Amino acid sequence: MSCTDYAELTATVDRLLKERYSARYYLPDPVDKPWKVYCIAGSVRDAISAEMVAADKSKVPYKARYDYFPPVLPAEHAARKFDFGQLSLARWDEFFDAPVALIFTIHGELVQGSWMDLGHPMARMASAQAGYFMQSVTIGLRARGLEPVTQLSIPQYDDIIRKHLKTIPDTHIVACGMALGYPDLEKVKENYVFPKKLQLGEVLEVHGM
Ligand SMILES: Cc1cc2nc3c(=O)[nH]c(=O)nc-3n(C[C@H](O)[C@H](O)[C@H](O)COP(=O)(O)O)c2cc1C
Repeated sequence: MSCTDYAELTATVDRLLKERYSARYYLPDPVDKPWKVYCIAGSVRDAISAEMVAADKSKVPYKARYDYFPPVLPAEHAARKFDFGQLSLARWDEFFDAPVALIFTIHGELVQGSWMDLGHPMARMASAQAGYFMQSVTIGLRARGLEPVTQLSIPQYDDIIRKHLKTIPDTHIVACGMALGYPDLEKVKENYVFPKKLQLGEVLEVHGM
C-alpha cells in the first residue's frame, strides 16, 4: 500500500470519527441487514419498543444484568454524567424512531478485559461483542451514511428484550443497544445539543517524543 493510500485512509477514518454524532432523529427509510449481532427491525423492533415504553411509564423497576456505574461515581465522572444528563434524551425507549436497532450481548462470566475487547481476533471471538467492536460497527455504519446512537439505557430492559429474542442464550447478558438509521438532518439541525467534550490535551499525555 502506498503512502498516498495511507493519507487517504487516515483522512477518511479521521473524518468518520470527527464528524460522528448522536443523530437521535431518523428518517423512516429501511436499512440493509448489517453484521451478525441481534439486529431488530419492523414488527420485532416495534414490539420491543412498545413494551419498553409501557415499562418506562409503569415505573415498575427493571434492572440491567450488570452495573454500568458504581454506587458512587468519582467526582470528575459525576460532573460529566451531570453534563450528559442535560442533553435531551427523550424517545430513547422508541430507539429515537430509528428503523433498526442493534442489541449487543456478552457472556455473563466475562470480566473487565473482555468488556474492553482490545480487538485481538481471539479476544473478539472470546468476548463476542464489546466496546472495541461497537466502535468498529459505528465507523462501518458511518461509512455507509448511517448514524448510530449508542444506548446504555437499553440493558435495563434485558428481560423484555430476551422475551422477544429467544435466541439470546441464558449465559449472555444484554450489554448495550444501538439505534441506527439514516439521519433526519433537518431535525438534527433544529434539535442537536452540542455536548461538552474533553480536548485532546486533556486526555492525551505524551512521553518520550
Ligand atoms: C457506551 C455509551 C452509551 C450511551 N448511551 C446513551 C443513551 O442511553 N442515550 C443517549 O441518548 N445517548 C447515549 N450515548 C450517546 C452519548 O450521549 C453521546 O455519545 C455523547 O453525549 C457525545 O455526543 P455525540 O455522540 O453527539 O458526539 C451513549 C454513548 C456511549 C459511548
